[in-house]
Amino acid sequence: MASIYRSLTINISKEMMCYSDFPIPADYPNYMHHSKILKYFRMYAEHFKLLEYIRYQTLVKSVKQRPDYSRSGQWEVLTQSKDGQEERHVFDAVICCSGHYTYPHLPLKEFPGIETFEGKYFHSWDYKGPEDMQGKRVVVVGIGNSGGDIAVEGSRVAEQVYLSTRRGAWIVRQVSDNGLPLDMKYNTRFVHILFQLMPVSFLNWFGEGKVNAMYDHTMYAIKPNHRLFSQIPVFNDELPLKILSGSVVIKSNIKEIRGSTVEFEDDSVLEKVDVIVFATGYNYDFPFLPQNAMYKTGHRVGLYKHVFPPTLEHSTLAVVGFIHALGAIMPQAEMQARWVASVFKGTKKLPPTQTMIKSVEKDTKVIQKNFIVSKRTPLQVDFVDYMDDLAGEIGIRPSLLWLFFTDYALFKRLLWGPMTAYQYRVTGKGKWDGARKAIFTQFDRMYEPLKTRKVRKPALPPLYDTMV
Ligand SMILES: NC(=O)c1ccc[n+]([C@@H]2O[C@H](COP(=O)([O-])OP(=O)(O)OC[C@H]3O[C@@H](n4cnc5c(N)ncnc54)[C@H](OP(=O)(O)O)[C@@H]3O)[C@@H](O)[C@H]2O)c1
Repeated sequence: MASIYRSLTINISKEMMCYSDFPIPADYPNYMHHSKILKYFRMYAEHFKLLEYIRYQTLVKSVKQRPDYSRSGQWEVLTQSKDGQEERHVFDAVICCSGHYTYPHLPLKEFPGIETFEGKYFHSWDYKGPEDMQGKRVVVVGIGNSGGDIAVEGSRVAEQVYLSTRRGAWIVRQVSDNGLPLDMKYNTRFVHILFQLMPVSFLNWFGEGKVNAMYDHTMYAIKPNHRLFSQIPVFNDELPLKILSGSVVIKSNIKEIRGSTVEFEDDSVLEKVDVIVFATGYNYDFPFLPQNAMYKTGHRVGLYKHVFPPTLEHSTLAVVGFIHALGAIMPQAEMQARWVASVFKGTKKLPPTQTMIKSVEKDTKVIQKNFIVSKRTPLQVDFVDYMDDLAGEIGIRPSLLWLFFTDYALFKRLLWGPMTAYQYRVTGKGKWDGARKAIFTQFDRMYEPLKTRKVRKPALPPLYDTMV
């Protein structure tokens, strides 16, 4: 199972993460604590009457092709209940949604001397809260979102927190200009068009300048080797302040551990370290799926549009939610699910195997060219391109040109406003009558939880005051 710590607050704002036909309640905060996200998921499941179809506490042991698969395309699924009871089921189709963050990556071999460590060490998967850090000297390894959050939280109670990074990272604030959620401000079609038109080197230079204007990444010793837009950044508003106030000290990669001494690659040495937290990310695996369904291309699994294994005889197996972009997983997984549903129903056909394999290879090359990928982070896509591509497959992509002539007010919001998922309910199959209103009121819902004291209406920048 995936695991989260008690204080976890999502780093995507509510309007950008909600499902396309079910806005998150207006009074919910913009960056939600995980308990609120769970409430939203429950509301969604109850609203669409999904709970009766979910079997909880059940492990899927294997998914195998049936003996008559060639004819039927059917799957045999072996499950195990909480009390160990195994059961075989036959399904016409299977969607695997197990995600990327289930198998903790604990690379102890890369930390010579870890077996001599006299303190306590664990992976961020096991981290629930900072209790074990009270008054301790703590080293957090890895500057991903987990490492950043844990270092900040630990620094409130620890004697000292050290954050060790081998490559550095771009650290970006979630509270953007005028206090708007960062993604509502910048994840727009307009910005996406700029990305298509301008050289990426210029965009990196511009973006890095803006990020460095808040705090110089070189001065804060976090400057990474990679450019800003070649990897998803770390979202953390507090880390720079913790660095500035000295409660988090940035260190280079660990070279060696001897007892309670930790030596770093720059030869600096820390004595009396009590705790090491390995916030070193996750590996992915699908051990329950048949071997012939999954093949590797580069670091990624060969899936047509990141969903369908292209080599199978029938399109009755799909992987949903195995995607990574600078945008929330929920709308992307929903979009994948809508496409999968139309393929399973037969209203949409997949291309021939060879065409799909070629497309997979092309995608792998594009990913390798544009982003830094590795074994643990095998893929990244452009959020808008990906959403529009799948939407195009099922005829739900909004036409900006058509809207320009027929509904200019909506066109304006689609072009300059945030890339919220309601856009994909404006037209086509699954059109939702509330979509237009949801788009017109998205800034109202952003503003609602902030109205906690009577003050005059905020003076937002010109573009936004027409949208609120
Ligand atoms: N608030 C939130 O919403 C929130 C909070 C936590 C996590 N998340 C999400 O959860 C996912 C997982 O995040 P994560 O931070 O757990 O993992 P991650 O993003 O994969 O970061 C892992 C970090 O560990 C480092 N690392 C890995 N192996 C290492 C080694 N052998 N030696 C030294 N350093 C090593 C990596 O460095 P390299 O880059 O050099 O490999 C990287 O800095 C991400 O999508 C993240 O955005 C979200």
